[in-house]
Amino acid sequence: MNHIISPSLLSADFNNLGRDVEMINNSDADWFHIDVMDGVFVPNISFGFPVISAINKLAKKPLDVHLMIVDPDRYIEEFKNVGADYLTVHYEACKHLHRTIQNIHSHGMKAGVSLNPHTSVELLYDIIDDVDLVLLMSVNPGFGGQKYIENTYSKIARLREIADEKETKLIIEIDGGVDNTNAEKLIEMGADALVAGSFVFKSENPENTIANLKSLKF
Ligand code: DX5
Ligand code: ZN
Repeated sequence: MNHIISPSLLSADFNNLGRDVEMINNSDADWFHIDVMDGVFVPNISFGFPVISAINKLAKKPLDVHLMIVDPDRYIEEFKNVGADYLTVHYEACKHLHRTIQNIHSHGMKAGVSLNPHTSVELLYDIIDDVDLVLLMSVNPGFGGQKYIENTYSKIARLREIADEKETKLIIEIDGGVDNTNAEKLIEMGADALVAGSFVFKSENPENTIANLKSLKF
C-alpha cells in the first residue's frame, strides 16, 4: 500500500481556512487530519463542531478526526454528523475502549485508537482485531511544532509485528514532529499514514511539501 499523507489543519491559517482546505483538495494529500482538544485531556483547546462542519462542506477527501478529549462517547454521533470518516480516540481517555470502538463502528465510521508516547503498544493486543487504525503519538499531544520522539520507531515495528501475528489489517498512523528527516524511516519501520502539521503549513510551498512526503519510497 502506498502511504497516506494526512496534513493537520491545526497548523493551518484560520483566517484563510477555506483556502487551506482547497490547497489540500488540490494536493497529493489523502486525508484531512483534524485535531480536537478539550483543555482537559490535553493542556490546550482547539476547535469543535461548527469548524469541522465548515471544513467538511469544502473537503473532497476523508476527514481523519483525532479526539484528544476525555469521555469521547458523549460526542460520537455528533462527530458522525459533522462528517468524520475516521474517528480516533485515546487509549488513555477511555474506560471501556471496546465499547467505544463498537459505538464508533455502529455509527458507520472507521475506528482508531491513539497512544501517548508513554503508552506501550502491547496494551493493544486484545483490541487490535477490532480497530481499523492505530495512531501513535510521536510527541506529547496538545500542540503542533514539537520535536519528534525517537522511541516511536521501535513502537511502529513492534505494533506491525503484533498486527502481522494476528493477521489483521491495520493502518498505523504517526502524528507529531513528522518532517523530511524522519518520514522515510517511519514508512520503512511500517507506518502506513503520516500526519504533518507545521512541516506542511510553515513551508514555503505546502502543496510541494505534501507532494514530496507522498513521493517518498524506502
Ligand atoms: C498534536 C496533534 C498533531 C499536531 C501535529 O497533539 O495531534 O496532529 O497537529 O503537528 P506537527 O506536525 O506540527 O507536530
Ligand atoms: Zn493529531
